Amino acid sequence: MSAPTDRLRVAVAGATGYVGGELLRLLADHPAVGELRGASTSAAGRRWSEIHPHFLNRPDDPVLEAFDPAALGAWADVVFLALPHGESQRVVDAVAEGRPQLVVDTAADFRFADLARAEATYGPHRRPELLGAFANGLADVEGEALRGADRIAVPGCFATAALLALWPLAPVLGPASHPVCWAATGSSGSGATAKPTTHHPTRAHNFFAYGLAGHRHEAELAERLAAWCGPGAPRCSLLTHSAPLVRGIHATLLVRPAEPVADPMELLRRAYRDRPFVHPLDRPPELAAVAGTNHAHLHAATRDGGREVVVLAVIDNLVKGAAGQAVQAMNLALGLAETAGLGHGGMTPC
Ligand SMILES: NC(=O)c1ccc[n+]([C@@H]2O[C@H](COP(=O)([O-])OP(=O)(O)OC[C@H]3O[C@@H](n4cnc5c(N)ncnc54)[C@H](OP(=O)(O)O)[C@@H]3O)[C@@H](O)[C@H]2O)c1
Repeated sequence: MSAPTDRLRVAVAGATGYVGGELLRLLADHPAVGELRGASTSAAGRRWSEIHPHFLNRPDDPVLEAFDPAALGAWADVVFLALPHGESQRVVDAVAEGRPQLVVDTAADFRFADLARAEATYGPHRRPELLGAFANGLADVEGEALRGADRIAVPGCFATAALLALWPLAPVLGPASHPVCWAATGSSGSGATAKPTTHHPTRAHNFFAYGLAGHRHEAELAERLAAWCGPGAPRCSLLTHSAPLVRGIHATLLVRPAEPVADPMELLRRAYRDRPFVHPLDRPPELAAVAGTNHAHLHAATRDGGREVVVLAVIDNLVKGAAGQAVQAMNLALGLAETAGLGHGGMTPC
């Protein structure tokens, strides 16, 4: 994709993956992107449309290039890493050698500032010195705080849904609040490689829980809650389910606030005032309304006279939960319009 040189050169590593494919889809229409390259370990030399067939609908259908981290970092202004956990920490130094203006990672490798928490959750880390060097990419909350960031780690998909629901409640949480987030995801959350739990016949009309002993994204919630609430931060439990969907996460958060809450919708409206992608609704949200988009729909209600608050959040795991949020974070970091390249409005039914 050639274009004027005053626009950005952007590269996506892991281009055959689901998140990599979504990054290519969004960035191909981004007004600030001049040249876009997809880099791949498994499919170099193949056309984008051979992996992501919707690229047949576009006037150009580039070829995936071989993933050479140093060459990509030297060529690009912005590098997106859409790799499995552990790969980003393996290639990050080579990418950084080329001094790209910005590296955005969609994996868990650099989501933690706390080494003990990172290693307790994901095992030994190759580049512990870099933990904390990546800005937290929860774009709808961080907003202008991302301006000027040169490295960003976007949160996981479940974590994004849970954190968008939790953030408005942060001022009313106490040590005993113990939020519980019950969340169901579509099969694309597990990536492009088929597994028994994502294989169509066993997944398409099925519904089941997993990770009951603890989901890895709970560590991300703990880190954000510590940052937002300080030493008295409550622990948040995440109860994950596989739903008969391809895209989307529906999260139901139940919280006991430190003091009864009269109007939880006002907390949502206050937290997301002037934020372009998070919409507090007066009714329970529907997943179909956000599929394919970078938008999140939220709703809140009280129970037991305000001693319990329920917040519902729906997102597309591949867009708001990964690629869209990553592009939004890039926009914020580089001082571009926050919504640039993210105008996809969705469709219902989907
Ligand atoms: N799926 C989601 O909803 C979601 C949401 C938030 C965050 N994430 C995170 O984003 C990252 C990408 O997720 P994804 O769902 O796109 O995964 P995916 O579909 O499995 O794609 C990952 C891609 O990474 C590349 N890769 C490089 N080294 C690899 C290796 N050793 N083994 C396998 N693949 C390798 C492959 O692309 P090439 O062969 O083209 O290089 C592969 O297609 C992951 O860290 C994931 O946790 C995913």
